[in-house]
Amino acid sequence: MADVVAAQTAISDIDGKLGKLWYVGYSIDDLAENSTFEEVVFLLQTLRLPTQPELEELTEHMVNDRETADFVSGLMPTLAEQTSPMSMLRTSVSAASAYDPDGWDQSLMANYRKAIRLVSLMPTLIAYYDRHRRDLPIVVPNPKLPHAANFLYMLSGEEPDQRAAEIFDTLFILYADHTMNASTFTARVVASTLSDMHSAITAAIAALKGPLHGGANELSMRMLLEISDVDHAESYVTDLFERKDKIMGFGHRVYRNVDDPRATILRQLSKELGEAAGDMRWYEISERVEKITLEQKGLRPNVDFYAGSVLYYLGLPIDLFTPMFAAARAAGWTAHIREQYADNRIIRPDSEYIGPRDQTYAPIEERSAPGREVAS
Ligand SMILES: CC(C)(COP(=O)(O)OP(=O)(O)OC[C@H]1O[C@@H](n2cnc3c(N)ncnc32)[C@H](O)[C@@H]1OP(=O)(O)O)[C@@H](O)C(=O)NCCC(=O)NCCS
Repeated sequence: MADVVAAQTAISDIDGKLGKLWYVGYSIDDLAENSTFEEVVFLLQTLRLPTQPELEELTEHMVNDRETADFVSGLMPTLAEQTSPMSMLRTSVSAASAYDPDGWDQSLMANYRKAIRLVSLMPTLIAYYDRHRRDLPIVVPNPKLPHAANFLYMLSGEEPDQRAAEIFDTLFILYADHTMNASTFTARVVASTLSDMHSAITAAIAALKGPLHGGANELSMRMLLEISDVDHAESYVTDLFERKDKIMGFGHRVYRNVDDPRATILRQLSKELGEAAGDMRWYEISERVEKITLEQKGLRPNVDFYAGSVLYYLGLPIDLFTPMFAAARAAGWTAHIREQYADNRIIRPDSEYIGPRDQTYAPIEERSAPGREVAS
């Protein structure tokens, strides 16, 4: 479906030739530099930036909506035992639907409230799960902290320093939306059947889980760890291409021969975090991998490549990188679902039949599996 227009949207826009991304007409560079994730949530949901009182009201709702139903947090010890983080998120978001105060109300305002609740809740689910699997006491949300900073706090039990909180907030902004990617399309397909918001987000999480979409940020960091030394980068990448394997965090369906603007911002943040940590290793390996991949394959990094080292420097466990991506992208998913509801027609594409035609139905006792005789 490359280049097929699957929906009209006023939420985000990409120019793949110029390497530009806008949310509601605001450039991603401008938003990353000047706004907060809470402002971006308002922007994506209402298609305009908030006034100060509106931002305060939204922030209050988001703080109140961080808490989860007892039933859902009660699932965490079980989910933490055996379930992968993305499977946990998919299952617990689905479970949360039963406890949403708006129930099956599909009105405009109920869906707005559900959207804010889901965006607010996802970091809590991830943090509770992580604390359980590490046998650590739960850290309840801190109402004084902004969304991104509170997520770091619930994971580690310590308030992050201001710059770390700002950088994590920027990452939330960068991941918040990206036009008609696979998970957003999935969410819109589910919404187009007039199924509910939680079902559409559950499906979007399932789509994001795959390594060709959201899973790439984890895999690119694991690759840096495997390389481990900047001098090993060239042979590692060359071997990978000789095996015809894909390099994670590189290539993009929309940005062709041009930098992903989010990668440009994250490259700089990775460098800053490396300098602050006095440990440039992950940044330096990344830079070298980027250079070799461009030389050998003409491929450039996408958002997930430098997001890997940024999240690693910020201390997130690697298998929480994709859940973090989901928590941020929930802002865009929910906005797209509401946009779909507002002007809906079921999404039902066509397919091209390539199978046999005009076959004759044979009774079961006369059939044989390919390569086998009929059982006598
Ligand atoms: C993102 C991605 C799925 C886009 O897929 P796509 O638009 O279908 O790209 P294509 O498969 O058409 O790629 C064109 C060519 O580049 C190659 N290519 C694309 N991404 C590559 C990568 N990361 N590593 C190696 N080769 C790659 C393809 O194999 C193909 O080569 P071919 O023409 O010899 O078969 C793909 O680039 C990819 O798998 N990247 C790695 C996963 C990733 O980082 N995902 C996060 C996306 S934000």
